[in-house]
Parts: sequence; C-alpha cells; structure tokens
Amino acid sequence: MDLSNLRAEYNEKTNVLLEEQIKVKDPIVLFDEWFKEVQHDSRTVEPNAVCLATCTKSGAPSCRFVLLKGYGKEGFRFFTHYTSRKGKELEENPRAALTFYWDHFNRSVRVEGDVEKLPIAVADEYFEKRPFQSQIGALCSDQSKPVAGRHSLVEKENYLKKKYSDGGVPRPPQWGGYLVKPKVVEFWQGQTDRLHDRIRFRFPNDNEPDGILTKPGENGWIYERLYP
Ligand SMILES: Cc1cc2nc3c(=O)[nH]c(=O)nc-3n(C[C@H](O)[C@H](O)[C@H](O)COP(=O)(O)O)c2cc1C
Repeated sequence: MDLSNLRAEYNEKTNVLLEEQIKVKDPIVLFDEWFKEVQHDSRTVEPNAVCLATCTKSGAPSCRFVLLKGYGKEGFRFFTHYTSRKGKELEENPRAALTFYWDHFNRSVRVEGDVEKLPIAVADEYFEKRPFQSQIGALCSDQSKPVAGRHSLVEKENYLKKKYSDGGVPRPPQWGGYLVKPKVVEFWQGQTDRLHDRIRFRFPNDNEPDGILTKPGENGWIYERLYP
C-alpha cells in the first residue's frame, strides 16, 4: 500500500508559537496552558492519552499508550502494572519518553526524563478512586503475560466481581504509579506552510551549554527553537 499521497492539510487557522508568548520560562507552565486548551475542546476524547516509550538495558525500544494521571513541577504520572513489559524495562532502565499528539490543535509535546515509582500510598489513594470495573480489571490482569483465552479472563473477572460484590477491591501489589521527571520538554506546533514551530526546553549541560536564545530562567530551564 503506497501512502505517499496521504497527508492532511492544516486548514484551520493554527497559532504560531513565538518565543515572546512564553511568559514563564517553565515547560510545565506552557504544558498546563496547552493541556487545558485541549481538555476544554470537546473534539478530543482522551487528551491525556500519551505514547510512552521505554527501552531495555541493551537499547531495544518499545512504546504503547497510557493515560496521564497528573502533572506538575515534579513530573508526569501514570499508573500501570510493575510486572508488565514496560515495568520490566523501567526496572532495568529507568528512563522514558512521552509523546502527546493533539490533532485538532496540530500540536505535539515530547517529554524525556528519568523515571521513579510513586509511593505506595499514592497508588492506594488513586486505586480506591477508580471505578469498580477498572479495579476488577487491574486485579484480573497479569499484564503482558500470555493468557489461555478470553474465556479464562472472563471467568476470572466473574469470580472477582462476585468475591468483591460489596466493594473493597484490594490494589494488586504489582500495580502502581510512575513519575517521569522531565529533563527535556519539546512543544511542536504544526503550520500549514510546514514551517512548524519547535520550542525545546532543557537544562544546560556541558555538551550543549546555554541556548542560543535564552539564559536559564529561575528554575534552570532554557528554551531554544529547533529547525522543523
Ligand atoms: C488510550 C489508551 C490508554 C491506555 N492507558 C493505559 C494505562 O494508563 N495504563 C496501562 O497499564 N495500560 C494502558 N493502556 C494499555 C497499554 O497501551 C498496553 O497495552 C499495556 O499497558 C501493556 O503494555 P506493555 O506490555 O508494553 O507493558 C492504554 C491503551 C490505550 C490505547
């Protein structure tokens, strides 16, 4: 199948991302602005769906979608099974990359950083708030392992639903949260003329010292424009 002619025109008026618009030199502040815009737009059903890339120790990558369950100065959080494929990869190589794509806004955000497990208390608190069906789903799953068939999953689900019909579904011990602590955050704003805007925030380092545009802000971040 040749897809070389498959491309979308960005017909809607898209915003240009200019350096002057970045009032606070902090990617989390800009992420918050962008995320809220998408969140309030009814066309995007799951604005918090994000592609998570992890890597084995030897460098073999894998990626999958997860749902972002919070963000702030400390980082970006999601919940999953620690014994899953991603969990194993994060165990041996605790670094990850996240990529959001919000097509109605022609926007993407990329995050890269070190990863750590969230405290058990945070997992407990969030697990308790999840709908019953999601709790049962988590308890049912030995995520990423082969399963005999859908029937065995359904049987297990029915058994657990009965067992916990009065509530009180326990959090599976291997289910919890991760925090991606951002070292690099890049904002991409697609343009009809294909001169897309790319603004990358990072901390200055020995290999790449100060950005060509800015000196570090209060919290150490610099940003710079990249060729599209
Ligand atoms: C939109 C979307 C959101 C998802 N959210 C999560 C999530 O928050 N946590 C999770 O463990 N899996 C989530 N999944 C399922 C994962 O993509 C994946 O199938 C699962 O985590 C196993 O991945 P792994 O074998 O690479 O560990 C989601 C899938 C989609 C399509």
